[in-house]
Amino acid sequence: MCGIIGFTGSQNAAPILLDGLSRMEYRGYDSAGIAVLNRGAIEVEKAQGRLTNLLEKTDNGKRPQGFAGIGHTRWATHGAPNDINSHPHVSGDGRFAIVHNGIIENYAAIKEELTAKGHVFVSETDTEVAAHLIEECYTGDFKAAVMKAVSRLEGAYAFGIICSDFPGTVFAVRQAAPLIVGLGFGENYFASDVTALVSYTKNVIYLDDGEFAEVRTDGVTIYDSIGRPVEKPVSKIAWSIEAAEKGGYEHFMLKEIVEQPAAVKEAIAPRIKGGEIVLDDFDLTEEKLRNINKIVITACGSAYHAGCCGRYAIEKLTRIPVEVKLASEFRYEDPIVDEHTLMIIVSQSGETADTKAALEEGKRLGAEILAIVNVVGSSIARLADHVLYEWAGPEIAVATTKGFTTQLVLLYLFALYAAKKLDRVDDFEYARLLGEICSLPKRIQNAIDLNMVSIPRLAEKYHDRGSMFFIGRNTDYAVALEGSLKMKEISYIHAEAYAAGELKHGTIALIEEGTPVVAVCCNEDLLEKTASNILEVKARGAEVLALSFRENRDIIAHADDVMFVPKTETFFSEAVAVIPLQLLAYYVAKANGCDIDKPRNLAKSVTVE
Ligand code: M6R
Repeated sequence: MCGIIGFTGSQNAAPILLDGLSRMEYRGYDSAGIAVLNRGAIEVEKAQGRLTNLLEKTDNGKRPQGFAGIGHTRWATHGAPNDINSHPHVSGDGRFAIVHNGIIENYAAIKEELTAKGHVFVSETDTEVAAHLIEECYTGDFKAAVMKAVSRLEGAYAFGIICSDFPGTVFAVRQAAPLIVGLGFGENYFASDVTALVSYTKNVIYLDDGEFAEVRTDGVTIYDSIGRPVEKPVSKIAWSIEAAEKGGYEHFMLKEIVEQPAAVKEAIAPRIKGGEIVLDDFDLTEEKLRNINKIVITACGSAYHAGCCGRYAIEKLTRIPVEVKLASEFRYEDPIVDEHTLMIIVSQSGETADTKAALEEGKRLGAEILAIVNVVGSSIARLADHVLYEWAGPEIAVATTKGFTTQLVLLYLFALYAAKKLDRVDDFEYARLLGEICSLPKRIQNAIDLNMVSIPRLAEKYHDRGSMFFIGRNTDYAVALEGSLKMKEISYIHAEAYAAGELKHGTIALIEEGTPVVAVCCNEDLLEKTASNILEVKARGAEVLALSFRENRDIIAHADDVMFVPKTETFFSEAVAVIPLQLLAYYVAKANGCDIDKPRNLAKSVTVE
């Protein structure tokens, strides 16, 4: 949720910290702050609201001066997003400053204990407790104090810490929250996300839970949870800084929508060799697949919707029953999962706390775990038995787009791959369906081209409605779920997705004169059924904005407006149908003057439960 960064070297830390924070602002944007070591003292600057406020306060990083420091961009959990609760937090004696991503679950008990010892707290945060605890544990050894304090903490945290007695050192700690160490020449770094580091170095070390990093100007030492130095592999970041910049687009979201044909191609093409799907990245052998009698897809938000979409292709092609479960509910359901279950964990960030917890629960119950993840080296990728990387490049906008479509195509590829291994598809059908999957980048491009000009006009028409419905059946319903989430999260318009046939069981009571109903009609087998539902809502005054292909004359005749997509094989149609829905949400949000890349109350990576 929050983003943290640390730097030590021989140039001023503040500009580097602020630049890194600007690239991680999507992780949280309630407030931001930095602390810099300046001639044996710690200087802190923090500001409520967006990073621009901190930039102003520090004169774009000209202050405070010093060669080592830490920074933070916040998504508030404990205490209102004001200057006092902003990070960094400082110990009572002013010797330590700390930034934190995560939640310390037992902070209240420790706070009580430290208060009894005379510590005075100024903020409502759990983080300030850690700063005071480190002070309490300190006897002149920075590392020992950090390790002792951390051993008392429960919860999920990544910390960055500086100590005024150790001018060239920044400490980082990881426990169930992402943290990456960057290796430079004569300077070193850490951050929650590689996007903060990629303009400085491509050489990174992914920390594991329980590890500490002592980051110095002349090198980095990683320690395990009991303080023994550990050798860690150095990984190379595979993309350049341009990938994490807007490149002339007004918003990251629009750039990422437009990038989808290329992103989807990158997810598919390297996995097709000699007319076959080759999934080098996992060894789900035929024997293992035959052992599976159920697939459970678990995820949150849009990734959950990707699972809802992918389910149809997997069930249709493999005939293995698929359940799609919300990760936040999963572990409280006493799930029926065992060694004959394949769990597919879907997560763009690979760090979503609920999704990770669901993975751990599935593992505990004996399931085989396949993760579909975008961020290389993320926690979920490392915990899973098998990983399919999305290879979508960095996704910066809080509202996912290319993250979603690349998840979809990997689910499609998996479905066809498994069907072949299980002899559930003959060679002819296999080749035909593979051709359909390979044509998705072109069709997605076509869907973008067909709608780029018309949707801004539709957005002008519909942007001021208080509420919208999204309807569809089967695959179309799954896409409607994603379309309505996109609309809600960036335009703040109440938007509900309903299975079209379900409206008449209650929800149709909400349809009145002028209610917009977005009707997804891309599932060729169900066009007539959805057409009847369109007529039902129209009879009650709804304005229908249909999403279909040009050949679908019937629905075009009934609808008030139409968004077109190219006709696509039903089981893979969601990846194309979602494009106009993303554009509609984008342009409606734009017409409403919303902060599209950083919608209110949200953050990109949800690392709290
Ligand atoms: O990183 P993840 O895919 O695990 O994230 C899951 C959801 O938090 C995410 O999809 C969220 O719903 C997005 N804001 C949707 O645009």
